[in-house]
Amino acid sequence: MKMMMSSMESCIVLICMLCCFIEAAEYTFDDSVGLGRQFDGIGGLSGGGATSKLLVNYPEEQRNQILDYLFKPNFGASLHILKVEIGGDAQSTDGTEASHMHNSWEENYERGYEWWLMVEAKKRNPNIKLYGLPWGFPGWIGAGTRSPYTNPTQTATYIIKWIQGAKEYYNLTIDYIGIWNERPYDVNYIVILRNMLDTAGLNHVRIVASDSGWGIATDILKNATLSSSVDYIGCHYPGTNSDQYSVQTGKQLWASEDYSTFNDNVGGGCWARILNQNYVNGYMTSTISWNLIASYYNNLPFYRDGLMTAVEPWSGNYIIESPIWLAAHTTQFTEIGWKYLRHGAGVGKLDDGGSYVALISPDNKDLTIIIETFSHDHSLCIRPALPKYTVKDQQVTINLKGNFANIKELQVWYSKPSYDNSTSTFFIQQKPLMVENGEATLTVHVDEIYTLTTLKTGSKGDYPASPSSQPFPLPYSDDFESYNWHQEPNNLAQQTGSYEVFNANDSTHGQIIRQLVLDQPVYWCGAEKLNRSLSVIGDPEWSDIYIEAETHIGDVNNTDGVFIAARIRNGGCQTFEADGIFFFVYPASNKIVLSRDLGTF
Ligand SMILES: *[C@@H]1O[C@H](CO)[C@@H](O)[C@H](O)[C@H]1NC(C)=O
Ligand SMILES: *[C@@H]1O[C@H](CO)[C@@H](O)[C@H](O)[C@H]1NC(C)=O
Ligand SMILES: *[C@@H]1O[C@H](CO)[C@@H](O)[C@H](O)[C@H]1NC(C)=O
Ligand SMILES: *[C@@H]1O[C@H](CO)[C@@H](O)[C@H](O)[C@H]1NC(C)=O
Ligand SMILES: *[C@@H]1O[C@H](CO)[C@@H](O)[C@H](O)[C@H]1NC(C)=O
Ligand SMILES: *[C@@H]1O[C@H](CO)[C@@H](O)[C@H](O)[C@H]1NC(C)=O
Repeated sequence: MKMMMSSMESCIVLICMLCCFIEAAEYTFDDSVGLGRQFDGIGGLSGGGATSKLLVNYPEEQRNQILDYLFKPNFGASLHILKVEIGGDAQSTDGTEASHMHNSWEENYERGYEWWLMVEAKKRNPNIKLYGLPWGFPGWIGAGTRSPYTNPTQTATYIIKWIQGAKEYYNLTIDYIGIWNERPYDVNYIVILRNMLDTAGLNHVRIVASDSGWGIATDILKNATLSSSVDYIGCHYPGTNSDQYSVQTGKQLWASEDYSTFNDNVGGGCWARILNQNYVNGYMTSTISWNLIASYYNNLPFYRDGLMTAVEPWSGNYIIESPIWLAAHTTQFTEIGWKYLRHGAGVGKLDDGGSYVALISPDNKDLTIIIETFSHDHSLCIRPALPKYTVKDQQVTINLKGNFANIKELQVWYSKPSYDNSTSTFFIQQKPLMVENGEATLTVHVDEIYTLTTLKTGSKGDYPASPSSQPFPLPYSDDFESYNWHQEPNNLAQQTGSYEVFNANDSTHGQIIRQLVLDQPVYWCGAEKLNRSLSVIGDPEWSDIYIEAETHIGDVNNTDGVFIAARIRNGGCQTFEADGIFFFVYPASNKIVLSRDLGTF
């Protein structure tokens, strides 16, 4: 009995000694051994599609606040890149964005909201980079073949007109242009696009390809002309990994679309983890979130898969979600053109799980270190699957060398999202970390992120809480009198087809909306299969609803008729199988039909 007691005591003493004398793992940050890749910035994607639809008619005050949280430097997400869809009159996930050329014989640069958004982003940050990418194309592209590559010169001309329109009408310089979102690329088209950009004096517009997988890398290695045409390899949802061929090309590698995860704190964990690990594991130097802001009706696909949420223009209610503050940990303390330190000399994995990256300014004066320890279950992304790993609380000793050997203190910014209903901590400044002889030690716990930086410019933007949430207001009506011509109706979210405001040119109707898509587009996901245009508004759960619309059918012998419907439950790429209660009118055959879906009549 005595013996056992004493052996237990010595055991307790031993455990205590282990925990008290646990070695802090040491990580070196040294720029004297050479640097890693250039950092190309963190971005958000508006469109692909129609993801900013409900943002446009927010009350001015809240709309400006939202835009500040997204774009204003040293305020919120402070994004470095705004990527937008080049509208193609085709459904591109949560709606259809209008093309600048519905038809080959016309051009218009007043449609949609991406122009407006780019102007607002530039107002807040003149250095923000702009990146355009098409999802679908209007039907005349490719002359009915449903391919943008049948007539590559025509397609390149169409894209170049969009770039030139941005400059001519909005003084916007487009920095990057893509090929065809998540659809096959065509080597010949890319080479032609590069040549035509150069001929048009648009040498500064750099090509990102192919906004899909890493596959284009093998073609780049085989073809020098293609290689000199492509500036950045952009891959979607890389799961923080690139492949050997893409690294071998020597090109800058981007996660040109990533995240797409429900924006609760697990989504925030996903975002924080990939912002570090896309470089640590995959040498990716830019990560762009789909989407920028979740501003589309709740019942449409991928609800709330944006950096923040704003779905109530009628109330002004919006929510700053965790990804905004977790982005700030990187964006507020870096700029495009900074460089990563080398792997093993400032970039790597922590011994007990988690990761760290360090970046330095072009003048070698400033250093930013970002450390994240998000656990597997609290940082899952929508795709791809995340292999299991473990993270533990740990002590991290940083050892600064080279240009940083004499640093005396680092500013500290800290977040810890909660996963158990306790209060989350987002982007707070802690007291500086004192550095002695190049060394400092930090205790990090699971599910945290730290930024350690020489910069003193960070700040957490703050506006009063947004107005409280309200249901869609009924009764609701729109006579379209308040719009400029060519704008699309607010709140009426087009899923297939594209409406535009015009004057009715009669004595009674004033302004009206008119359907401008008359031909099946070079579609992206095929929502247009049935050749029917459909827009949604309000709430699919409404019952006992009264709806009234006045419509004009031009040539009754040359139409498939019109319909009005309620309780529509499908949108996005599934629009063609939308069900609900449909009331069709076919004037040519004098028929009125009640139907449960869009296709049967
Ligand atoms: C256009 O933008 C540039 C910056 O990109 C600015 O220097 C110039 O003054 C602007 N021009 C006009 C007419 O606003
Ligand atoms: C590279 O691709 C271009 C465009 O398709 C083609 O004209 C050229 O012959 C290719 N070069 C090689 C070496 O395959
Ligand atoms: C958090 O609170 C919600 C609502 O009260 C509850 O459903 C959920 O189980 C709680 N989660 C945890 C981890 O306690
Ligand atoms: C009304 O007339 C203008 C000017 O001719 C024209 O551009 C517009 O398309 C017409 N509106 C409709 C709905 O036909
Ligand atoms: C839709 O229109 C295209 C031509 O634009 C035609 O080939 C196709 O058969 C039409 N589909 C249906 C279901 O009517
Ligand atoms: C539609 O067709 C019917 C029968 O052919 C014809 O009588 C009528 O005039 C046509 N209507 C128009 C507006 O062309």
